[in-house]
Amino acid sequence: MVERACVFGLLLIASAVSGCTPSRDPAAEDAPAPAAVTATRLAAAETEPGQWMSHGRTYGEQRFSPLDRIDAQSVGRLGLAWYADLDSRRGQEATPIVVDGVLYVSTAWSRVKAYDAATGKPLWAYDPEVPGEWAVNACCDVVNRGVAVWNGKVFVGSFDGRLIALDAATGRELWDVNTIDRSKPYTITGAPRVVKGKVLIGNGGAEFGVRGYLSAYDAETGQLAWRFYTVPGNPADGFESPALKMAASTWSGEWWKLGGGGTVWDSMAYDPELDLLYVGVGNGSPWNHFLRSQGKGDNLFLASIVALDPDDGSYVWHYQTSPGETWDHTATQHIIVADLDFEGGTRRVVMQAPKNGFFYVLDAKTGQLVSAEKFTETSWATHVDTKTGRPAETPGARFYSTRRPFVSLQNPNGAHTWHPMSFSPRTGLVYLPVHMANYTFAHDDAFRPSPLTTNLGIQRSNAPADPAARAAAMQKTLATVGGRLIAWDPVRQREVWRVPREGAANGGVLSTAGGLVFQGTGTGRVEALEATTGKELWAAETQTGVIAAPMSYSVGGTQYVAIVVGTGGSWAMSGARANAKGNSLPNISRLLVYALDGKAALPPPPPLPERRLTPPPAVAAAAVVARGEAEYRNYCGRCHGPDGAVNFGILPDLRYSAALASKEAWAAVVLGGAMKANGMASFAEVLDADEAEAVRAYVIAQAHAGLQAPVSSSR
Ligand code: HEC
Repeated sequence: MVERACVFGLLLIASAVSGCTPSRDPAAEDAPAPAAVTATRLAAAETEPGQWMSHGRTYGEQRFSPLDRIDAQSVGRLGLAWYADLDSRRGQEATPIVVDGVLYVSTAWSRVKAYDAATGKPLWAYDPEVPGEWAVNACCDVVNRGVAVWNGKVFVGSFDGRLIALDAATGRELWDVNTIDRSKPYTITGAPRVVKGKVLIGNGGAEFGVRGYLSAYDAETGQLAWRFYTVPGNPADGFESPALKMAASTWSGEWWKLGGGGTVWDSMAYDPELDLLYVGVGNGSPWNHFLRSQGKGDNLFLASIVALDPDDGSYVWHYQTSPGETWDHTATQHIIVADLDFEGGTRRVVMQAPKNGFFYVLDAKTGQLVSAEKFTETSWATHVDTKTGRPAETPGARFYSTRRPFVSLQNPNGAHTWHPMSFSPRTGLVYLPVHMANYTFAHDDAFRPSPLTTNLGIQRSNAPADPAARAAAMQKTLATVGGRLIAWDPVRQREVWRVPREGAANGGVLSTAGGLVFQGTGTGRVEALEATTGKELWAAETQTGVIAAPMSYSVGGTQYVAIVVGTGGSWAMSGARANAKGNSLPNISRLLVYALDGKAALPPPPPLPERRLTPPPAVAAAAVVARGEAEYRNYCGRCHGPDGAVNFGILPDLRYSAALASKEAWAAVVLGGAMKANGMASFAEVLDADEAEAVRAYVIAQAHAGLQAPVSSSR
């Protein structure tokens, strides 16, 4: 038996490697070549229920699995079939792809792995070797949301802006193209999609000052086929297309000097029937509309869904969710194409629940607004006028006009961000993970763009100076942080059921023909709920927080549910991982795969280390500490936690750092880049020796304050 498998393995990969590994399921005598995904197969994905060949399973990205072996009756028997430890402790956001019995998944730092989908046997692993210091460009961690497969190749966008093609059989690199201007803080975290032989990839960076675009590369050669810019550049340089000339009439001032934003960092969907590609466009750069465009104009195509011709990237239509956006209202959230049954008949629509809290249903062919309703509490607008398609904003929402802080019921993670939703054609419902968290937007009069940090035009903190008052304000904000999973009827635009979640950072969603909805939670569980009622039917402990979405596939008649676990990403980076329970869990990156009667078991989780603050004596006068605090806010807090004292994140809480012990040890890391390979860049470009030392003084002061009033921290 072993020999046969060996010979078989050889045949399969004969031209690629010598030796008889990796072998595949010996029963699969006529297994096809790896990742043999074609236009025909992808367009007819419905006819192959056991595969998950693209990011959202089908081109319409419904994230609905037609498999039904696991259903309400059998789900109680669901158990772990196999698991694989992944290789980092940063955020894990990917949805695996499964084609013909092989599972492909990306992990933090844009690494890629392939496994036998039935047994979990590792087949190959690939590391694009992203330079560690590129992590300083991460608004939201060094995550990666997935790979694409096509014609024997696996494609991944690397965090440092490259698009890479791998041989699906061996993981060998076939081509590697640079997709960005490397002098700018672009990053890639999104999954590529492949449409008509072209690999589509966007990028991120709008928090730092870049101009967004989507590129299409020939899947075979890596040649650039077309590029669609989402915001206009400097008119003096001429416009790339008539659409951008039109867009430029909605901008004012010299926006191009600040980038403009509009990055395409996550969502795309394709409709083979209409031959339209739908792209979700991000927030403005800087966020503040006044600083970006003199507070004038809609600023197309920010916060829009744009439909493009996939052959040449030319503009077809757009719908803008938040005109003149100024609250980090991206429309990069998951886009779903579906046929919905309205009273007047079936209509093909595009659906999105972007950060701004409204659920949009658009006509897929024309982009005309069908309906828009709030799917959660929001304070920036009361409603959307269905005639004009425009929101009715609340007085005070434009904080730069009033020069008064505006309390939004969404923090910059939005009412919903990248965590994918799911549409079940069986129930007609969309299952949507919702976040709640208050946030105060206040105009930054002193805005001055700087390298190595975010450039938002929003005050970094308007917390009171008095420590007790500040702690109280922090507690008040944290009390607003929460989440829910809702089932949304997109035809009637109303909630059908909801399950409250502890904390905001929970996983994406899968629905299945077995009448189930699967979701992981920030508090370390994966659950199966009844799709019609939300009733919990099954749950398993994951030992760690979950933010990624589950998916389902089958091999040899067995249905599996796979999910990547391990927390990180935007919530953790912005200092609100989940809640007390989520924060007390270790952060473990793993791929968990469940099946009926699965008998595998996870090893016991490592105990959380006992940690005690042992700061060196205070080193500086109050004025120096205050200066250090300002620089900490400017350059450190977005990764190491707000106020240097409340760290609910995934990166080191600096109050515990051994580097606090001496000026030299501190400077070696902060200015010398001693830990740059691990993601801690040198800040020598923006801080001099005195400023770095002032930050040390501030963190020491915070550690002493922490001795007085201990705050929980897991790192
Ligand atoms: C983009 C994210 C990011 C930013 C911004 C950032 N750091 Fe870091 N920092 C890291 C990472 C990642 C590590 C951990 C490296 C590791 O675990 O090996 C780290 C580690 C450190 C350490 C060592 C911690 C230890 O465990 O002893 C110090 C000191 C430090 N950072 C100081 C700073 C200071 C000061 C600033 C602001 C000037 C800053 N960092 C800004 C990501 C960041």
